[in-house]
Amino acid sequence: MRFCNHRLFCKSSELLSEDFQANSMHAIITDPPYGLEVLGNKWDKILPPQKIWEECFKVLRPGGFCLAFAHTTLYHRLACQLEDVGFLIRDCLCWGYATGNPRPYNIDKAIDKREGIETDSEQYPYEPISDAAKLWKGWSNTLKTAWEPIVVAQKPLEGNIVENVLKYQVGGMNIGECRIPYASEKDRKSLESFGGFAERDCGDGRYFSANAGGKKQANVHPDGRWPANLLWLEPLYSEYDHIFMIPKPHKREKRSYNEHDTVKPIRLMEHLIKLVTPRPSVVESDVYVLDPFAGSGTTLVACRRLDRTPIGYENDAASFAIAEKRLSEKVNKLDIFEV
Ligand SMILES: C[S@@+](CC[C@H](N)C(=O)[O-])C[C@H]1O[C@@H](n2cnc3c(N)ncnc32)[C@H](O)[C@@H]1O
Repeated sequence: MRFCNHRLFCKSSELLSEDFQANSMHAIITDPPYGLEVLGNKWDKILPPQKIWEECFKVLRPGGFCLAFAHTTLYHRLACQLEDVGFLIRDCLCWGYATGNPRPYNIDKAIDKREGIETDSEQYPYEPISDAAKLWKGWSNTLKTAWEPIVVAQKPLEGNIVENVLKYQVGGMNIGECRIPYASEKDRKSLESFGGFAERDCGDGRYFSANAGGKKQANVHPDGRWPANLLWLEPLYSEYDHIFMIPKPHKREKRSYNEHDTVKPIRLMEHLIKLVTPRPSVVESDVYVLDPFAGSGTTLVACRRLDRTPIGYENDAASFAIAEKRLSEKVNKLDIFEV
């Protein structure tokens, strides 16, 4: 195992190219402000300035990936910002989760209020009183958020992919190490007997499978299924159980002192890191992953667990202190999997 020295700066990432050489980072994996201030956090109110993505582009190696989380309503802005500074948009990963509640705005209740009717804030479900409100019973203005997009952007390759990979050690996706393990032997066997899409005619032509396509079942690989751009972290429906990979973070994983509002699961970050960066032992050098919006340091913790060298920027002193504390803890390969 290599010794992974992290570098975490307590400052804005706006001038990060002054701290690092051009073409030095293997990947940028980050969860920037969503531009919404949903949880009342001031830092979340506006999207990061384009300048930071320009800086990221400079320090990333050709062919390197920038994976950035976004909100469903502002994903397009982030994707455009990245494209405008020179990245190519390669995909959009969908991180889905079943937990979390919608923030209800009840149109029927609002109409009653407007009519001067005193409403019971505890009443659930709300029973409208005025005739106008009764017509709009059950109406709201939002859906429950059940997934977050992750922009998959890539700095253009230098030459072709083989030339780029050999020169810069990045440019491809590590499918081999990111396969989704079969849920059971029965699950694996059920795929073997699935001879091809043509033979899986469900009558209406609909089916769901996290497999590579192909005439024959090309994806019955000993290590599991081809990783998909859909990342489910927890059970939703039992029939989809085979595509779930990793649980959501709980208090024990985040640590009791971590009060950051938007902590991501370590295993999700590990999956992303493994997907777009080589193992240091394979390339025989340090592998640098930059997070320009480190928050409580989840990307950095995940990097350490995978022996990648994390570089982080966090301009909020309280979040920086949490990240530092998490990084000072001994890397325990097992404890986050215990609930
Ligand atoms: C969505 S949070 C990241 C949370 C992180 N994924 C975690 O698991 O803890 C984004 C962070 O970016 C920080 N931030 C916002 N603008 C910044 C800037 N210009 N430079 C550095 N950090 C910034 C905020 O303070 C916030 O903690």
